[in-house]
Amino acid sequence: MNILKLIEKRYTAKKYNADKEIPQEKIEDLKEILRLTPSSINIQPWKFTFVQNPEMKAKLASVSMHNEEKINQAKLLVVFSVADDLDAFQKVVNNELPQARKDWYNQIKASMPESDLKIWFSKQVYIALGVGLTASAALGLDSTPMEGIESDKYMTILNMKTYKPLFAMAVGYGSEDDFNRIEVTPKSRRLLENVIETI
Ligand SMILES: Cc1cc2nc3c(=O)[nH]c(=O)nc-3n(C[C@H](O)[C@H](O)[C@H](O)COP(=O)(O)O)c2cc1C
Repeated sequence: MNILKLIEKRYTAKKYNADKEIPQEKIEDLKEILRLTPSSINIQPWKFTFVQNPEMKAKLASVSMHNEEKINQAKLLVVFSVADDLDAFQKVVNNELPQARKDWYNQIKASMPESDLKIWFSKQVYIALGVGLTASAALGLDSTPMEGIESDKYMTILNMKTYKPLFAMAVGYGSEDDFNRIEVTPKSRRLLENVIETI
């Protein structure tokens, strides 16, 4: 399917088929695709947690506001977390990034308050969400982006220290009777001439 058709067809799944398994190779592809997400100065300030274990998924679902049912039904939950402990992340930078990136990062870090640095990090993680949503569609999977999660409780349940959950993405096969399927609820967006300027 061409990319425009794919994007026209993707929708936020609100109800999943809880019986249909995702082939594991698609999940492995999604891991590699998220790893390849681009970021400013290639800083990669993220952790992607793939939750397939039903008990762990249920625990996270119970602290996910109006998203509980979808997370329980979907076969996969991906939690997107951002570097939050800057000292611990400095070690990641020192150990895993090439010297030129390290120098560049240290300059940026010295030039702005911690709070701005963390906002800049978060922006990078949102790029991965765009990649993840598009990749899921390309893999023939339905998905739900979700900011509706209790980040602090996720952090505790997942025993995270360096990173802090920002949002999550449920992935699976949408239910035939999901009201949000594209055939039932057509895509709603602002008009092209109002959001695109061509010069
Ligand atoms: C960053 C982000 C957070 C979102 N959070 C939720 C959420 O917590 N629960 C939910 O059901 N949908 C959530 N959505 C889905 C949006 O409401 C949806 O993408 C938007 O209405 C456009 O519809 P479409 O994705 O079906 O095209 C979120 C979307 C984005 C991009």
